[in-house]
Amino acid sequence: MKKIAFFDTKPYDKIFFKKLKDEYDLEFRFYESKLNIDNAYKAKGYDGAVAFVNDDIDKETIDALCENGIRVLAMRCAGYNNVDIKAAFNKIHVLRVPAYSPYAVAEHAMALLLCINRKIHKAYNRTRDNNFSISGLTGFDLHGKTVGVIGTGKIGQVFIDICRGFGMKILAYDPYPIKDSDITYTDVETLCKESDVISLHCPLTKETNHLINEKTIKLMKEDAVIINTSRGALIDSEALTTALVEERIGGAGLDVYEEESDLFFEDASDKILKDNVLARLVNLPNVVVTSHQAFLTKEALENIARTTCQNLYDYFEGNTLENEICYKCKKFDTCDRKGGKCF
Ligand code: NAI
Repeated sequence: MKKIAFFDTKPYDKIFFKKLKDEYDLEFRFYESKLNIDNAYKAKGYDGAVAFVNDDIDKETIDALCENGIRVLAMRCAGYNNVDIKAAFNKIHVLRVPAYSPYAVAEHAMALLLCINRKIHKAYNRTRDNNFSISGLTGFDLHGKTVGVIGTGKIGQVFIDICRGFGMKILAYDPYPIKDSDITYTDVETLCKESDVISLHCPLTKETNHLINEKTIKLMKEDAVIINTSRGALIDSEALTTALVEERIGGAGLDVYEEESDLFFEDASDKILKDNVLARLVNLPNVVVTSHQAFLTKEALENIARTTCQNLYDYFEGNTLENEICYKCKKFDTCDRKGGKCF
């Protein structure tokens, strides 16, 4: 039985991972603390570590894990922008869950869009207060509107299908467009100019950091709605907030926020919010913020737990590591993956 240090544990993780531990011959030590340089020592004596989206797995943390004998890190998420994969190369095998439910995330993106557009959040509060007025709740038909989808990978494609069900026209931007598809691709500028709704489904990289910024926002229609279920730093939050306050865009549905790591997933209801940008965003009537919950469906959690356990099992059994990621094997891989591993 292999012993695994499990960081940033949420109550739901325990439920789904405990169900599978015997099947995969794994024993978990659940830590609530995040994996970062201060907590890496907690992995000492374990055979592997499991981490999550807001853990801070920089070079120092990688080195500390290594010093404590860790050679495998299983991310229980798809994104790995919080892992210094270059520093991990030749030291720690980084595994991830590339797809667990694109439907969960794409459906949440549509939930945010419907909520913002039809002002469900306001109606919910009103009717609970016996206020049955509908003034100020006017939305627009999604039918016939143009949705700009940035990133047409697994989640982007499901989102496109959902939008087509609503009768929306699709515009997309992706540096690696799907060949022979019926999706109309364009550049980011045209997408920003022509879309009524813009939804982000690309990973956070150096190129996509602050993809939505003062300049791109200025191109958008004044009633455009931005949806972000991908990663917070795709949007320059200050530029977004300014545009919303100055009524230069229509609204935003945000499941992620660039400074989310110390706040999201935690109950801070008894504390004063020190982040002025987030404090402003959550109080704007045309903004709905959810705290990185787009993935949170029963099906997705089952898949995350199973793939993470399978990834660890494959590593310990010496099997091909299907879900290993390294800095060489991103899109067009230069990683030779000798023996089914990146190194
Ligand atoms: P994927 O890898 O299937 O698709 C990503 C797409 O983005 C690819 O087609 C890629 O070519 C494209 N892309 C790469 N660079 C780009 C750029 N500069 N501009 C536009 N497109 C670019 O990934 P998947 O599964 O669709 O996930 C997308 C993102 O969703 C993840 O990177 C992650 O950040 C986020 N996510 C959020 C979750 C949540 O709970 N809020 C849960 C799961 C994923």
